[in-house]
Amino acid sequence: PLKTPETTAFWTARYIVNRIKQFKPTEQKPFVLGLPTGGTPIGTYQELIRLYKEGEVSFKHVVTFNMDEYVGLPAGHPESYRQFMENQLFSHIDLPAENIHFLNGNADNLDQECLAYEETISSFGGIELFLGGVGRDGHIAFNEPGSSLASRSRIKTLTEDTRRANARFFDGDITQVPKLALTIGVATLLDAREVIILATGADKSRAVHAAVEGSVNHLWTVSAMQLHPRSILVCDEAATMEL
Ligand code: GLP
Repeated sequence: PLKTPETTAFWTARYIVNRIKQFKPTEQKPFVLGLPTGGTPIGTYQELIRLYKEGEVSFKHVVTFNMDEYVGLPAGHPESYRQFMENQLFSHIDLPAENIHFLNGNADNLDQECLAYEETISSFGGIELFLGGVGRDGHIAFNEPGSSLASRSRIKTLTEDTRRANARFFDGDITQVPKLALTIGVATLLDAREVIILATGADKSRAVHAAVEGSVNHLWTVSAMQLHPRSILVCDEAATMEL
């Protein structure tokens, strides 16, 4: 654990930048980065922007895939994950618009959209580094408790707890939080060559306990990271309270 959310953000951004620099991406062989939304990664995104502005890194040859998206929010809705990413990161760096990939929660055929997403990831040779957050009930992306650990991109019904937690982004009004989302699966995450999960704050401490000391099980999908040969859990001190 690191002491504060700020130090986790600093460490994580620096780690990502170092990985991109070591990889030396080119147009032919871009660095494929998986990204999350939520409150937790915002600090990391601010650090990435700072490092970009200081000339430490370029995202010209980075390709991104976001983890998840709500179903049915109108394009440009401030709380759509696509718009969130635009505001928090994409509009501040030199990542080309055509390199950004998202599950489209307004696609006519959502099942087809999910299949195509997996195919697009494969067409880039898979994901090099997937950054993720964790819900307080241990969900990763929108793989709610009970999700198969072999799951792939698909539609998920959100739990009441997740919708309540995310209501803070919708004027505190749970009725405005969509009931469905598209999400990558647990297996999609396990396929990435490296995974970093961020957890900060005491309300993530049960999830951190499940991730590190619990058994691998589908009720705490973050526990699947124990199966991954290169996964890192980056947390602040408060999140380690139950260890
Ligand atoms: C949502 C997202 C997850 C995220 C979780 C925790 O459910 N789909 O990807 O990890 O929220 O978010 P926060 O970082 O705001 O606690």
